[in-house]
Amino acid sequence: MERRKSSSKGPKGPKSAKKSNIAKTALGAEPEKRGRKKSAPMGGEAKPRELNVHVKTAKRREYGSTLWLKRQLNDPYVRKAKAEGYRSRAAYKLIELDQKFGLLKSGSRIVDLGCAPGGWCQVAVKKGGKRGKIVGIDYLSVPAISGVEILKKDFLDEDAPDALKEMLGGGADLVLSDMAAPTTGHKATDHLRIVALAEAALDFAEDVLAPGGAFVSKVFAGGAEGELLARLKRNFETVKHAKPKASRSDSAEKYVVAAGFRGNKE
Ligand SMILES: C[S@@+](CC[C@H](N)C(=O)[O-])C[C@H]1O[C@@H](n2cnc3c(N)ncnc32)[C@H](O)[C@@H]1O
Repeated sequence: MERRKSSSKGPKGPKSAKKSNIAKTALGAEPEKRGRKKSAPMGGEAKPRELNVHVKTAKRREYGSTLWLKRQLNDPYVRKAKAEGYRSRAAYKLIELDQKFGLLKSGSRIVDLGCAPGGWCQVAVKKGGKRGKIVGIDYLSVPAISGVEILKKDFLDEDAPDALKEMLGGGADLVLSDMAAPTTGHKATDHLRIVALAEAALDFAEDVLAPGGAFVSKVFAGGAEGELLARLKRNFETVKHAKPKASRSDSAEKYVVAAGFRGNKE
């Protein structure tokens, strides 16, 4: 049974305890319900509580658009990101990966591939501080983030890696890739495109990382496999896979985290 204790965010007093008197928010939910968090710990971060908000404008929308909006409205990470000033729910994936693998250090030099709308950059700048250097790239526009240099460009363009290296002005401690191409619905094509992005990110990481550096890339299904996995194992001391709790459970997405770069042999 749901509680009716007074809450700093919700309505107070006996009147608000009656269901019919509880004011609904613009999202159609009771405010004190929307504000509550699940108490179960999650590697230092409590997983935000699931919601059940209905889309009031569903009749005027396409089915797909209604489904997307319903998922956004009911996604506790979307709400948490909004409350904490992150541009994307994806920010919590990097926060969790950092908690698990200790990736972000003060003064780090970091490259963020596929950085729009900027959630990972925000996390990196918060942890890396002003002493580090953070460079991001995306073919989508990213509103400015203090402490981050952003290049609007397709990372697969031939001149993109050199442009990033010039912006960085030296070796990197960490290369992050959250790049994902829009899905086509054709499984084999989508898989090939994802592998191609991860391989291009690794090409760049092997070129730019300082010895001891780390590489994180979004991968799917079985994780890094085949030649990609072999390369990671050859060039890094440790290679692990992780699925942060902030990564949707119905998504095949996961991340490969390779640490202890052995150095560019050329
Ligand atoms: C999941 S989003 C990244 C979210 C980001 N980590 C954050 O926290 O805000 C994936 C991004 O990869 C970008 N992307 C995909 N392919 C790319 C490419 N070839 N070059 C540049 N950006 C690319 C997309 O435009 C998209 O913004």
